[in-house]
Amino acid sequence: MKIEKEKGQVRLNELKTLLLRAYDVGADAENIALAGEILKKGGIVAIPTETVYGLAADATNPEAVSHIFEAKGRPKDNPLIIHIDEFGMMTEYVREIPDSARRLAEKFWPGPLTMILPKTDKIPMRTSGGLDTVAVRMPSNPIAKAVIRAAGVPLAAPSANRSGLPSTTTYQHCVHDLDGRVDAILESYPCQYGLESTVITLAEGTPRLLRPGAVTLEQLREVLGTVDVDKGVTEHLDASAKVSSPGMKYKHYAPEADVVLVKGTSEEYLNYLKRKAAPGVMAICFDEDLPNLPEGITGVGYGAREDHYRQGALIFDLLRKVDEQQAKKVYVHCPEQDGMGLAVYNRLIRSAGFQVEEAGDGE
Ligand code: TXA
Ligand code: MG
Repeated sequence: MKIEKEKGQVRLNELKTLLLRAYDVGADAENIALAGEILKKGGIVAIPTETVYGLAADATNPEAVSHIFEAKGRPKDNPLIIHIDEFGMMTEYVREIPDSARRLAEKFWPGPLTMILPKTDKIPMRTSGGLDTVAVRMPSNPIAKAVIRAAGVPLAAPSANRSGLPSTTTYQHCVHDLDGRVDAILESYPCQYGLESTVITLAEGTPRLLRPGAVTLEQLREVLGTVDVDKGVTEHLDASAKVSSPGMKYKHYAPEADVVLVKGTSEEYLNYLKRKAAPGVMAICFDEDLPNLPEGITGVGYGAREDHYRQGALIFDLLRKVDEQQAKKVYVHCPEQDGMGLAVYNRLIRSAGFQVEEAGDGE
């Protein structure tokens, strides 16, 4: 279904995706209201959040939700996160809110944290990918909040990319992936964090980190004490494996170019690049590496070695840009795995199809 506004009326249109300016909750109120109307009617809209752009639909409407899966080409068993605008909204959709969820919400909501909890029947199986749990997040981005309020329902929203590609962190990425496939795209600022939210499950005993993000493992442990880390955060899980978070087993964040993650000091990394220099070879390196890149390698910095927030904000855009430059092979300097670095590492090993090399191992 496509929806278009004409003469004040919302009508169906099979071909066109509306691009709606939404930079400011006040100045762009009309467009935000229209997005809310489209969502209420079962349409799908790409919206900005502080993490990545999301492709939103009414989480309680199975038909609307199935349009998300079609537009993205997403496997049906990969559940969606529902986005709420106030804590009270959750009580209808979650069977039981444990004390741990309340404490996390107090500290990190609104913000880049998603909690998995047992769901009620108001969340259709289509939304939860057939699971009896539901992932819930309260975003902090003012436009996202205003759209949820305008729709009046929780919004199911996966990242607004075509399945398998890097997540969308600008509205231009959304236009690239989804134009003609969704009802509307909100034109807004690039996302603050650039990486998807932290996902923690509170539905099975000890809290367990399923996906690292801007709310770090260290911060979660400060609030909850013990937090386990799922194996899938850093290890490759087979497509047939039983995984806690279905998203873990699918190919992810991958450009056309072949990505390799390279561990080592700057000196080791730069020597490694020297041995690999060839046409079509690119480097995504730390800013410190840039002045000494070997001849014949096009390189781009993704922040200083210690600046994991900047790395997170830039990495998905850069992974898309290497394809624009028709790179064949991209060697990314591997970040440390502490704090937000774990989130950057987690996305990078997936985009590299788990190809990690030690720069120091060569001759
Ligand atoms: O920052 C974000 O979380 C963004 C923005 C739009 O909010 N959304 C996002 O959604 O990244 P998505 O669908 O791309 O990633 C959600 C991840 C998937 O790996 C999915 O398998 C997992 O969360 N997930 C969702 N519901 C789950 C559940 N009930 N149990 C286990 N994993 C779940
Ligand atoms: Mg995604």
